[in-house]
Amino acid sequence: MCVEKLDTLVGSILSFDTTPYPLDRMIFEQIGVFLKSKGFEYSAPAEIHRVITPHSLNELYTFLYAYMDTEAFLKVYRAFIETAVLKYCGVGHLYQRKPGIRIHLPGAMTVNYHTDEWYGHGASVTNFWMALTPAFDTNTLHVVGVQDSLRLVDQFTRSKADLTEMNRQSKAHAKPVEICFGEIFVFNAKCVHGSETNLTSSTRISIDFRVLAEHEDPGNKDTEEYYLKPGRPTDVTQKQAIRPLEYVGAAYFYPRYAFTRHLRAHYQRAICKEFARKMKMKIVAEETEVHTMVHHPNLLHLASGKSVSPINSVSIFSVACLPLDAQDRKRIYTAARDPGTTLFFANEQLDIKLSGAKKFLAGDGIRLSVNVWHSRRCAVSSRSVRVDRCDTNSVMCQSAK
Ligand SMILES: [Fe+2]
Repeated sequence: MCVEKLDTLVGSILSFDTTPYPLDRMIFEQIGVFLKSKGFEYSAPAEIHRVITPHSLNELYTFLYAYMDTEAFLKVYRAFIETAVLKYCGVGHLYQRKPGIRIHLPGAMTVNYHTDEWYGHGASVTNFWMALTPAFDTNTLHVVGVQDSLRLVDQFTRSKADLTEMNRQSKAHAKPVEICFGEIFVFNAKCVHGSETNLTSSTRISIDFRVLAEHEDPGNKDTEEYYLKPGRPTDVTQKQAIRPLEYVGAAYFYPRYAFTRHLRAHYQRAICKEFARKMKMKIVAEETEVHTMVHHPNLLHLASGKSVSPINSVSIFSVACLPLDAQDRKRIYTAARDPGTTLFFANEQLDIKLSGAKKFLAGDGIRLSVNVWHSRRCAVSSRSVRVDRCDTNSVMCQSAK
């Protein structure tokens, strides 16, 4: 995929023909509708600070985001991206399903200097930023170039700088993005960027969206929910309807061992269910454990594929919900093996398919010899599970897709 091509765009300003994509006018009309509903006079979008207060600005954001969720807006947005923007990026990219909108009023400062990578966006995510009203001087976004950003971030980390110091140093290196509607500024998740107090007499309104090369790390965003592939169905529920469910299962949560003690059952349940949704699992039952029995009879029952109705999977909150005793765990794996029940671990985003253990041994997937939980502490990353103390009941895990 074309990560390299995206990188070549960073720092540049792209142009597009505004006629087929009147996103500015569409947003301005809605601002007019909102202001009228509030009994305000509306003259020009860059003048809305004359009537908008910080409180009504929040209401305006809600109003605009609701509009930007309509098919009327998204149809133009999608055509714009797929025709006018992605031609600069090459093939094999996903784009943000719905853009963000920012309104920077005179006298206000919108955001501290930061990189998007700091807040969980994937390192190779590329940002596209376009002004709907003229963006200039202190009313616009200020961005530091990639090399200076890398050096600054390294310096911030080593010196343990506070936000005030980070803002001060970033400001010294940042340049204002001065563009009008019809232009798009490109930067990426490693670029330091932020805003200054708007000392102009002009409100800036801008929209932004992200582009990601397919199969690159989306960071903390859910690829399917946050990004859209060009030409694909746009509605998440419609997409799910097209791709059938792969699992019917139970949610299993147990706030007893290790860190799970600090996460109430209803939060664990919510995480199990969210993970199940991503795994295309229909939850037909939910269960916690018999608190007075250490061998986890309820999990044993579920692993056997038994519940109020037949199941082929269990969305377990964490590996820390397994029994402490190795023999008890082995009994659960054995129970899961014959019916082929897949045991998912939502918190660690792992699955254990004992029936396919041989495949994993010989396969090309990520293979982990996981001696399952027998500890009060566990370090987990997206691709590995480490435990402090191992036992002899090694099973194979594979990172959940
Ligand atoms: Fe940002």
